[in-house]
Amino acid sequence: MKNYDDYLTFALGKGRLSNKTMEIFEKAGIRCEEMKDPNSRKLIFTSEEDKMRFFLSKGPDVPTYVEYGSADIGVVGRDTILEENRNVHEILDLGFGKCRMCVCGPESAAEKLKHRERIRVASKYPVIAREYFNNTKNQTVDIIKLNGSVELGPIVELADVIVDIVETGSTLKENGLVVLEEICPLSARMIVNPVSMQLKSERIKDLVLKIRQFI
Ligand code: PRP
Repeated sequence: MKNYDDYLTFALGKGRLSNKTMEIFEKAGIRCEEMKDPNSRKLIFTSEEDKMRFFLSKGPDVPTYVEYGSADIGVVGRDTILEENRNVHEILDLGFGKCRMCVCGPESAAEKLKHRERIRVASKYPVIAREYFNNTKNQTVDIIKLNGSVELGPIVELADVIVDIVETGSTLKENGLVVLEEICPLSARMIVNPVSMQLKSERIKDLVLKIRQFI
């Protein structure tokens, strides 16, 4: 089997994250032609010229691959980094995919937040929700994990509020919900395996210098 020690291996979140990342890389002169075939079902692509490998995975798996060293570097949203809570170093804000993690709900839920009532919180991000309510706000809440369309939670009375991503705000608006509290800003970030950070520091520094001017 080929030894890839001399390569930089990247785990990229499938879809918009990987497309936008490769756009930035191309501007910086890093190309991976193999990745451009829209009909390909391949999951790993190599650029022999740049001595780089790229593989695509589901966003939440990116920090896992990076923590275990299967990838030296990952690109994924800060929401996923916070939720997965893996042992990785965040080294760069790539500046795209900007949005906010917020507590949202009907306006009437503002009072329940204010008085620290024991409320029900629905979210795709139970770790972020728990950390925010338990540690930042000191409020005991019941967290209910959902897998999508979280805005339904308050509408069908599953939960009082939700913790979710707000980008344009149109999903909230169309469902009669508002932002009640902002937890943190989000965007795509570059993360690095702690060992690669030491062993491949020159290459990683060089990469960051190259792409920084295009973000
Ligand atoms: C995300 C998020 C909100 C919506 C916010 O959902 O969970 O529902 O986008 O965007 P907006 O503020 O621009 O309306 P996504 O589209 O990823 O689907 P999901 O609800 O199935 O998770």
